[in-house]
Amino acid sequence: MPISLPPGCILRRALAGDIWAIRKLVLSAKLDPTQLRWSQFWVIECEGRVVACGQLRNFPEAQELGSLVVTPAWRGRGLGSYLTKHLIQEATQPIYLECLGSRLAEFYTRFGFVPISWQELPQSLKWKFGVSQVASKVLPMISVKIMQYRESGA
Ligand SMILES: CC(C)(COP(=O)(O)OP(=O)(O)OC[C@H]1O[C@@H](n2cnc3c(N)ncnc32)[C@H](O)[C@@H]1OP(=O)(O)O)[C@@H](O)C(=O)NCCC(=O)NCCS
Repeated sequence: MPISLPPGCILRRALAGDIWAIRKLVLSAKLDPTQLRWSQFWVIECEGRVVACGQLRNFPEAQELGSLVVTPAWRGRGLGSYLTKHLIQEATQPIYLECLGSRLAEFYTRFGFVPISWQELPQSLKWKFGVSQVASKVLPMISVKIMQYRESGA
């Protein structure tokens, strides 16, 4: 688990002018490009460029950790872990997320996220996460997991 960022990298709140860099990161990772509010994002800037982003979306009595992306050239150096830990610290409500595939689920398990059922979601997230659950049922090769942050991970 990284305790610091690589030299030349800083973590900061996103600014309005970062929205295009955020959109580019999210689209390139084929994640949901809707509901991207720059004011809910944190970004990592390395050598003057935004190379990673992550968002805490606000819902009534819950927050969704989403849009977590590290640009391919910077992956595997701890940026995704650093950002995830920071977003967990920043959260003020119970945190939930959706992720595709077991490798990502393992990644989030490291920080204290556990898989939960759709029924365990707060009402405000049931509709949003329900869409991908229906897709998972219709197309079993799409395995979308729902997770909740329960405790402090590694
Ligand atoms: C998932 C992601 C944010 C991790 O960022 P990162 O900076 O590479 O992560 P770290 O260096 O902190 O940690 C590395 C871990 O990330 C995970 N990881 C790396 N690439 C991954 C990928 N393509 N898919 C899933 N998990 C991945 C692995 O668990 C890896 O651990 P390992 O080195 O023991 O194999 C990054 O791979 C990414 O942007 N993926 C595409 C977008 C995405 O799927 N986002 C999550 C949406 S729920």
